[in-house]
Amino acid sequence: MCGIVCYVGNSKAKPLLIEGLKRLEYRGYDSSGIAVQDTGRMDYYRAVGKIVELEKRINGLEINGTTGIAHTRWATHGEPTEKNAHPHRDMEEKIYVIHNGIIENYQSIKKRLEKKGVIFRSDTDTEVIAHLVAENFTGNLNEAVRKAMSQIEGTFGIAVLHKDIPGQIVVARRGSPLIIGLGEDGNFAASDVSAMVRHTKNVIHLNDNELATITKDDVSISTLQATAIKREAERVEWSAEDVELDGFPHYMLKEIFEQPETIKNAMRGRLDKGEGVPRLGGIIPVWDKLKECRHIVIIACGTSYYSGCVGRYVFEKLTEIDVQVELASEFRYRKLNFPPNTFIISMSQSGETADTLAAMREARRKGAHLLGIVNVVDSSIARETDAGIYNHAGPEIGVASTKIFISQLTILTLLAILLGRHQNLSLTEGVEAIRAMEALPDQVQSILSKANHIEAIAAKYHDKSNWLFLGRKYQFPIAMEGALKLKEISYIHAEGYAAGEMKHGPIALINPQMPTVAIAPKDSLYDKMISNIQEIKSRRGPIIGIGTEGDTALKEMVDDFIEIPQTLDFLYPILTVVPCQLLAYYCALMLKRDIDRPRNLAKSVTVE
Ligand code: AGP
Repeated sequence: MCGIVCYVGNSKAKPLLIEGLKRLEYRGYDSSGIAVQDTGRMDYYRAVGKIVELEKRINGLEINGTTGIAHTRWATHGEPTEKNAHPHRDMEEKIYVIHNGIIENYQSIKKRLEKKGVIFRSDTDTEVIAHLVAENFTGNLNEAVRKAMSQIEGTFGIAVLHKDIPGQIVVARRGSPLIIGLGEDGNFAASDVSAMVRHTKNVIHLNDNELATITKDDVSISTLQATAIKREAERVEWSAEDVELDGFPHYMLKEIFEQPETIKNAMRGRLDKGEGVPRLGGIIPVWDKLKECRHIVIIACGTSYYSGCVGRYVFEKLTEIDVQVELASEFRYRKLNFPPNTFIISMSQSGETADTLAAMREARRKGAHLLGIVNVVDSSIARETDAGIYNHAGPEIGVASTKIFISQLTILTLLAILLGRHQNLSLTEGVEAIRAMEALPDQVQSILSKANHIEAIAAKYHDKSNWLFLGRKYQFPIAMEGALKLKEISYIHAEGYAAGEMKHGPIALINPQMPTVAIAPKDSLYDKMISNIQEIKSRRGPIIGIGTEGDTALKEMVDDFIEIPQTLDFLYPILTVVPCQLLAYYCALMLKRDIDRPRNLAKSVTVE
């Protein structure tokens, strides 16, 4: 959602804050603002639109302060206008606040404060924080923030500056990430590591209901109840290069091309080839229960949900475990009854998705054990699970998730093989599965080498207003993921459908203006897919076929053919999704979309 970045140290804050905001722009980018403390004054600027608009506003200005806070917004309350952009101030313009999250009781607080004569200048929920801090301020900023935030219901990651207290930033969190960075010549705080990883890899994660006072030489942490906390810094495994473009035009394309490495990272150190048994150290704390588990519920949102949908078929193939997959935003409101020893697996790239977090907490209340498959180390979801498996995929900056999807499929498959090998999966089957997985990076690379061919196909159809994606069994979730990729970055309407459902309605849509992506590798349902393709062909619908190398029959049947290497049925999704990602990317490119920051979207949906 919103991005927060702060700095207090010996260097000028402005360039560090702007650099940090740019790293966070994927989290939300409809307005931004900065407040830099200088002797007896605050340099305070805000702008609507992307960070570049704020840069234009402050370029050339003498902003020399060494303490500052900055924010990039994804609007939740109030239009994306300058008056609603953060930082927000109190009436005396002494308190400056930036906030990521949602305050659920802000109306009642606002009413109470207005009765006391407070005049609000924005439509946001955040502004109440500035006035609450002012109301509680008697000289100690930390205490004023602590008292103010104790009245707040909802989620927050905040940073607060006081105009007359130099060199001090107070930060606090509940439900929205906030990480402190210990730098050489000053200290940072931000919504995520990418905002500061070029300047420090030593970080401290604040937990919920904690706050900290940060100066250039010190960080002191306590709870909202004023209990002091000692917390060691941890070392970040990411590098600054991980968040660079490395010559690619967009992060999304870079991350698509990173996927061979992503698969290797997901498998690194986790394969016991001889025994055909993966080693997943992260689940050791719960292994005794997990190996007896016969019911798993995968919960997630968006692309992570689709990886869970593939995972269900993979578990069905390799284990005796009954797996259901649920949209977190729906699951959390359901009447949940779990069989004993049920495990929840939360799939999440960011580890901060509000719906997934809420669904996990509801499942915990109903007695389930919690596992996480998460990319961001020490994220909220990672910290609330009993155990988990990290993707180790490095930061995914593009709003449209690509490499993490493939990483999630890889890890779900490793988990299924591990559990299967303690059930009915034979050593031979385990060894065969792992051997096939080891071939995947090169196989993905071979598909990437066909990018120009896929771009040419996108050129033929990028002007079509509606697309259909079809698949069966393992490929049905890929059809849905392919449609989501196209929708979210090119803004073309697309539907992912189970091919078997065509005759139950969607076939009425088929027309020469509507391309169908038919995902038909040589798997157990290939023949059924061929029938569907023929049904579409007989109604003159253009077909883009994704099929196994050498399948000349399919190639002749379709208008455009993208071939992928042969693999095991349950591994095909890791290959078939790559052409879908590239089709979406090239269509969006030709339509001149803002590919890394599509309209209305944010990388991490930390609000409901
Ligand atoms: C994927 O391309 C989307 N950006 C979105 O659906 C995303 O997968 C979803 O919001 C879940 O995010 P998470 O994996 O960080 O929980």
